[in-house]
Amino acid sequence: MKKYAVITGASSGIGAEFAKILAQEGYSLILAARRQERLECLKKRLKTECEIVTADLGKKEDCYRLFQTVKDKPVEIWINNAGFGNFGTFKTSSLQKELDMLNVNVRALHILTKLALGKMVKQNSGYILNVASCAGLMPAGPYMAAYYASKSYVTSLTRAIAEELRSEKSPVYAGCLCPGPVNTEFNDVANVEFALPGISAASCARYGYEQMKRRKTVIVPKCSVRLAMTLGRFLPQELYIRIAARQQKKKKYGSRKKAGCKLP
Ligand SMILES: NC(=O)c1ccc[n+]([C@@H]2O[C@H](COP(=O)([O-])OP(=O)(O)OC[C@H]3O[C@@H](n4cnc5c(N)ncnc54)[C@H](OP(=O)(O)O)[C@@H]3O)[C@@H](O)[C@H]2O)c1
Repeated sequence: MKKYAVITGASSGIGAEFAKILAQEGYSLILAARRQERLECLKKRLKTECEIVTADLGKKEDCYRLFQTVKDKPVEIWINNAGFGNFGTFKTSSLQKELDMLNVNVRALHILTKLALGKMVKQNSGYILNVASCAGLMPAGPYMAAYYASKSYVTSLTRAIAEELRSEKSPVYAGCLCPGPVNTEFNDVANVEFALPGISAASCARYGYEQMKRRKTVIVPKCSVRLAMTLGRFLPQELYIRIAARQQKKKKYGSRKKAGCKLP
């Protein structure tokens, strides 16, 4: 029997790399994002059955439409990866961009997690992997305040669901991937340049996939980021936030390079 996987935000970065891994693993794919031509480019490169759903997940109706296209298919893996950030002080950052971001990072992920979970509980199998960020494991992120808050929502929601599933001895898995910097188009969209070197999107997705299969609830790629997250737990929160602010200030406003239509 065919096994299906859904990936949101598959048109670039981590999502496109998840698509390559799951294609190699023999999954039939449902790929969602706004940029149809990017998804078509990716589809041509994958040696598996691929369905493209062009969707703006900032819109509720597009979230429901994505779910409708797969509701009768046995979806084994659902990766809520679509998301973006925004750099700047809270007082100067665009309210509209932040609301758009919350609609994708929080509302769409919430809707799709609920719908996917209901389906997987009925199937009695399946994996839901929510792409959060190490930002979601920290108490706050000055200069990217709304982004950090949105990713805290993702980690909190997912960990709670994972515990509910564990206590019911459900075979369904829910976990969150919490990377530090990853070299993708994220910076261009968030209008920022990282202060620290990023890992490749391919290694991030590979690590996420392997740890998901090991049913780890909170997945943090890269040793140094894992160490920083562990040490952070022992710091007073106000101090931690000050250190995070200092680190964030080292980031620079990006040049807002427009990413062309290169293959993901
Ligand atoms: N890169 C990092 O350093 C980093 C670190 C931690 C966590 N993350 C998280 O990783 C996830 C993937 O980001 P990435 O780094 O791979 O960045 P990316 O290359 O910019 O990819 C973001 C993906 O999200 C999709 N997306 C954005 N808004 C959307 C919308 N309204 N509707 C549908 N799809 C939308 C984009 O597709 P379209 O533009 O075609 O719609 C794209 O496929 C995000 O959730 C991000 O927060 C990234």
